[in-house]
Amino acid sequence: MAVATTHVACNSVMKHPKLGRMPPANQVSDNQTHLKTFKRLETHSLLEIEPPDHTRLRRAAMRGFDRNSIAAMAPHVSRTTDALIDRFPSGCFDILEHFATPLPTIVITQFFNLPNDVAPRLKSWSADMVAMYEAGRNYSVELKAETAAEAFSTYLTGVLDRRKTPIGDDYLSSLMRAEKDGDIASREELISTVILMLNAGHEASVHTIAHAINLLAHHPERARLLHPTNIANTVEECLRFAPPLHMFNRYVYENVHILDNEFTAGQTVGCLLGSACHDDALWPDADRFDPLRARRSNLAFGTGIHACLGASLARLELQIVLPLLFSRCPNLKIVEPPEIANRYHFHAVQRLMVET
Ligand code: HEM
Repeated sequence: MAVATTHVACNSVMKHPKLGRMPPANQVSDNQTHLKTFKRLETHSLLEIEPPDHTRLRRAAMRGFDRNSIAAMAPHVSRTTDALIDRFPSGCFDILEHFATPLPTIVITQFFNLPNDVAPRLKSWSADMVAMYEAGRNYSVELKAETAAEAFSTYLTGVLDRRKTPIGDDYLSSLMRAEKDGDIASREELISTVILMLNAGHEASVHTIAHAINLLAHHPERARLLHPTNIANTVEECLRFAPPLHMFNRYVYENVHILDNEFTAGQTVGCLLGSACHDDALWPDADRFDPLRARRSNLAFGTGIHACLGASLARLELQIVLPLLFSRCPNLKIVEPPEIANRYHFHAVQRLMVET
């Protein structure tokens, strides 16, 4: 597979109108009855469709993502961070399990105003569904993904039936209003959008929090980097240095010429965001973690029409969580090198043992 490795190349591929995420009709297999629910959800997923449907659905999904709704999440993020730190085990423990994983999972369920006890189920449904995008997927992975897709859909159908009408300012109510107004075309499209937002809303943040803890724990200038004047830059540098989603693909819909390369219809092109974020042409000495370097926008949240819809929530979370964690746990120490998972799309942390 051809891959774009520089910032300019990834930017050009991801913004090109003749390339997209939706598989061309002749590459869609209809011999997958054991994946009925999963495929139905995918067909309606914002992440797997192209304009004009993508434009309509993205606009509907953006409605609850205004500045005020995101800012209103700040107290929830602080409270959840404090509550998790209060329950840290004594001695050596895996901060991925006790902090980086539950935190964004709880925050995204609060954003939707779903009960907190759904967070652990969300984590497991999401993990089983996301496994479908890993290399070496097999029949048993597919069956687990289908079971998770069915359980997740059934759960949400129940929530929506009980709520009947939008009840407030939460994100689920915003999507329900969009369904009422016709911007979301069907109940299936609504459920698919909710599932995408709940899954995407925590998966990448889990690993960014873990990478950031690892990068900052032993940094000699940590106090300065976490100061309110520098925290936004520090978060951007964490994202640039260790983008949790390091690769996405695009299908070529028509023969095109991009930056001296010919691509033919039907071909797939990879965008190596992990590499683009380490492009020395933009960040001199790019393999050095340096939050005080001049800030330039990086591709950790992607670009083009599929650019991350939840970036503002992810940034808010990181900007609150990191200073709070290190101010409450100033002696936090990494006691073993982090274990990095063998994953295809994710630059994921598997275990991060610490002492506080
Ligand atoms: C550090 C955290 C995050 C990172 C690094 C990240 C990264 C990305 C990237 C790279 C894409 C583009 C994929 C592509 O172009 O193929 C994307 C898309 C998306 N992200 Fe995120 N994301 C994060 C957090 C979130 C959160 C918190 C939410 C929701 C609350 C979210 C929702 C989405 C959605 C819905 C899309 C698809 C948008 C579309 O297709 O129009 N993400 N994300």
